[in-house]
Amino acid sequence: MTRLSVNINKIALLRNARGSNFPDLVQVAKDCETFGAEGITVHPRPDERHIRYDDIPKLKDIVNTEFNIEGNPTPRFLEMVLKYRPHQCTLVPDDPQALTSDSGWDTIKHESFLTDVIAQLQEAGIRVSIFCDPEAKYVEGAKKTGTDRIELYTGPYAEAFPHAPQQAVAPYTEAALLANQLQLGINAGHDLNLDNLRFFNQEVPGLLEVSIGHALFVDAIYYGLHNTIQMYLRCLEKV
Ligand code: PXP
Repeated sequence: MTRLSVNINKIALLRNARGSNFPDLVQVAKDCETFGAEGITVHPRPDERHIRYDDIPKLKDIVNTEFNIEGNPTPRFLEMVLKYRPHQCTLVPDDPQALTSDSGWDTIKHESFLTDVIAQLQEAGIRVSIFCDPEAKYVEGAKKTGTDRIELYTGPYAEAFPHAPQQAVAPYTEAALLANQLQLGINAGHDLNLDNLRFFNQEVPGLLEVSIGHALFVDAIYYGLHNTIQMYLRCLEKV
């Protein structure tokens, strides 16, 4: 069964727009859980334009489901993750200037760096997932790093889905079959939404978790947060 982790970066962005604590990120995280979220994801970026480093301890104290911190493993990021020990850390090779994450790791080129970082995190009891494009060579490379899971980057799936859903999902199904064979867990995220999530979940065997932020909070403007989370859970055949 696929878990829904809600990425609350957009709430932090809205809060930061006015410099006060409104909306209250901690309260929103609690409410997401009350409304059915099975995990909370945050992605602090170096410029702290949405999630700030000082949000992490407050969230760590209140998240009762699964706390997932994602980001580029800079020394500062790793120090913070090792201090607050979330359930899961997702490593993402995002450029500091990037608007949002837009590709997975080259797990071949960065094998030794990833292996070292992953070992440090696992030693601290943190499950590790690494952001990965759905290509056999990168999935095989991921296995060599010792990671527990991969998070399949679903941006290209979401873009192609409206025109050719079967073609859009095919590389993900294949990557998932390989990951299952290699005993790598599978997460997925980026641009998943109420239109494309159900099909993705049906077609990707062994999908353990999706993390969804942008579309979910846009939907919440129209449907309300409680309804919206329930609608996403319905796409995962949870309700
Ligand atoms: N996974 C990763 C690694 C991300 O960087 C993001 C965006 O912060 C997401 C998932 C969620 O993507 P979206 O906000 O498009 O749902």
